[in-house]
Amino acid sequence: MQSVIPRLTFLVFIFFTKALLIQSQTIHNNISYQVDSIIRLMTLEEKIGQMNQYSNDRKNTGPVINNLNHLEEIRKGRVGSMLNVTSVSRAKQYQEEAMKSRLRIPLIFGMDVVHGMKTTFPIPLAEASSFDLELMTKTAEVAAAEASAHGLHWTFAPMVDISRDARWGRVMEGAGEDTWYGCLVAKARVKGFQGKDYTDKRTILACAKHFAAYGAAIAGKDYAEADISENTLHQVYLPPFRAAIEAKVATFMSGFNDLNGIPATAHRPLMRDLLKGKWDFDGFVVSDWESVGELQNHRVAQNAKDAAKLASLAGCDMDMCSSSYISNLEHLVNTGDVDISIIDDAVKRILTKKFELGLFKDPFCYNNREAELKNEKINNRYRTLAREAGAKSIVLLKNNSVLPISDKVKNIALIGPLNTSKWDMLGNWVGMGKAEYVIPILDGLKASLPKSNITYIEGYDHKTNTTKELPYLSEFDIIIVTIGEKATESGEAKSKVDISIDQNQQSLVKKLKEDSGKPVIVLITGGRPLVFSAMEPYADAILMTWWLGVEAGNSISDVLTGQYNPSAKLPITFPKHSGQCPIYYNHKSTGRPWSADNQYTSRYIDEDVRPAYAFGYGLSYTTFEITTPVMSKKQYGYNENIRIKTLVKNTGKYKGKETVQLYLQDVVSSVTRPVIELCGFQQIELKPGEEKQIEFVLTNKDLGSFNLKNELITEPGIFKLFVGNSSDNLKQTEFELIE
Ligand code: NOJ
Repeated sequence: MQSVIPRLTFLVFIFFTKALLIQSQTIHNNISYQVDSIIRLMTLEEKIGQMNQYSNDRKNTGPVINNLNHLEEIRKGRVGSMLNVTSVSRAKQYQEEAMKSRLRIPLIFGMDVVHGMKTTFPIPLAEASSFDLELMTKTAEVAAAEASAHGLHWTFAPMVDISRDARWGRVMEGAGEDTWYGCLVAKARVKGFQGKDYTDKRTILACAKHFAAYGAAIAGKDYAEADISENTLHQVYLPPFRAAIEAKVATFMSGFNDLNGIPATAHRPLMRDLLKGKWDFDGFVVSDWESVGELQNHRVAQNAKDAAKLASLAGCDMDMCSSSYISNLEHLVNTGDVDISIIDDAVKRILTKKFELGLFKDPFCYNNREAELKNEKINNRYRTLAREAGAKSIVLLKNNSVLPISDKVKNIALIGPLNTSKWDMLGNWVGMGKAEYVIPILDGLKASLPKSNITYIEGYDHKTNTTKELPYLSEFDIIIVTIGEKATESGEAKSKVDISIDQNQQSLVKKLKEDSGKPVIVLITGGRPLVFSAMEPYADAILMTWWLGVEAGNSISDVLTGQYNPSAKLPITFPKHSGQCPIYYNHKSTGRPWSADNQYTSRYIDEDVRPAYAFGYGLSYTTFEITTPVMSKKQYGYNENIRIKTLVKNTGKYKGKETVQLYLQDVVSSVTRPVIELCGFQQIELKPGEEKQIEFVLTNKDLGSFNLKNELITEPGIFKLFVGNSSDNLKQTEFELIE
């Protein structure tokens, strides 16, 4: 009898699982059938209309807007989607026009909701520092809830481009330099935006962008070509896109960039063969802003007609803003240059998403939450989440025991205009965020230290980049100075040749230390790794505070006062000098690996080869000891789980959280591999004196890498494994993988 019950339960489970599968299959078939029936009714012009996207002329996120009458174009069925429509009333107006078109096909509305819609959260690179995937899902969920209330169906996020070069301003928008971690972040954020399925009207479609290798822009210059090996493409840049598909991302965006001789928007092997072929992606691909028309500037197309042909054949389903499709595809089909099956496939993909969103049933189903928008305030729950996200994103880079600040500290000088700036805390890509929603640093600090005298001193003029007169500083017990980038200094089209913090800002830190002799705490704002070697020796503590969004002031104060013990780790390397860029921890060994005392090794003669702060680095107010990892066996077969254990102990005075990182090295491989590769991490919270054992489990798949045929394989042999709290602070063990 005992064994019958579990069996019965098992049978019932199988029955329901099958029933659910059949049900979802039926829904899918049903949509497919309905989409096909609509396509049969459509004229060629109407089909191409679905592949056309315009931007609302009231908001611009690209260079040129055409002067067509959008409402009229929509009424004629010549538009499938609008971007940058930010109000429900405007969205309704457009949708009403679509309902006047012959087949009443609804529009889909998209926008860049990158790190929040109304509630601005930390920029993605900052959030990636938290190594808290659940948190990233939660903030994306809120962004989706707010965006959908504004009548939006679709965000152009997450950006899953791996970025190894901090000169590229868009590093702020991604998860940093590591591919393995980038895959996890991609999944977490897609899950947050899209929820379980699109029938939930508080979720929106996500978009994995920019396909592909946009982040490999030569010399870190935005829009520049990516000239990388096939192996690097597969190993480093493509996996996060694949991961987004595993998380069922609805759409992709093609990149602006040229990839190894073919512009990404015309890249047939990439979109048609790999994405839609081998990877079986069933969503649709939108171009980047005018990237179809820009094929002419790449000089692979002589005119807009050529451009439309190349992009559509390559697999780009929707033309964002260049009008190349709507002006030329009809002719191209009529002349036989583009087969109608290409058009039908694109339209089917786009209409399927509109069906799945429920827009055919009710085109206005995302337009009935205006009441939520009437409240001018940020929802308290969202604020709490933003505060938590901010605190978890702050990386403690240096601490000569001056932090946390005790509430007994009497006189604090808070120096620098960034301390009162609201706008600069939002960072780039702010959605519908407003400066007035922001808690600036000064307000946050005053609220957390009510018993201290906090004196704000401007000290610096951002417009002229010069220091201002300072008062007598010795009367202060502690000096906090905020330097770094303003919100306009990282993001799209914000590449820099020099990522150093302005020398006058750095001199200010030196002057503060020399004049006061008091502890100087430096807060650094910014959207990318910055270089600040000149001021570093004069700082007693340094916190990388990025751009943290609406709760910036509170999150920073939580960390300064120890209300939150910092736990973040750098997801991207901070160089010592701009000339080190691109710099990343997982570089190859080279034939002459760097050695401090051998000049004929891979190094510079005018600067250290090592970074200022390594990938995975980040301090806490407490200290942790992580023991040398142990394995129960020295050899593992391909089908065995590989178990690695280590003991983590809190050896300091405060309760704290450590992110224990696991890296591997394939000692000998047929294709060269990085010196080390992140393959696991775990966060563990411990009280002072407490210790816990943690275990990592790997399978042979986790050890694999791409061969020259672009196949993911795992070769037998010795693997080294490293455990520690930063990519440059590791203890090692090794084992052999045997066939
Ligand atoms: C250009 C950017 O590259 C892309 O990421 C963004 O989604 C579009 N503009 C639309 O704003």
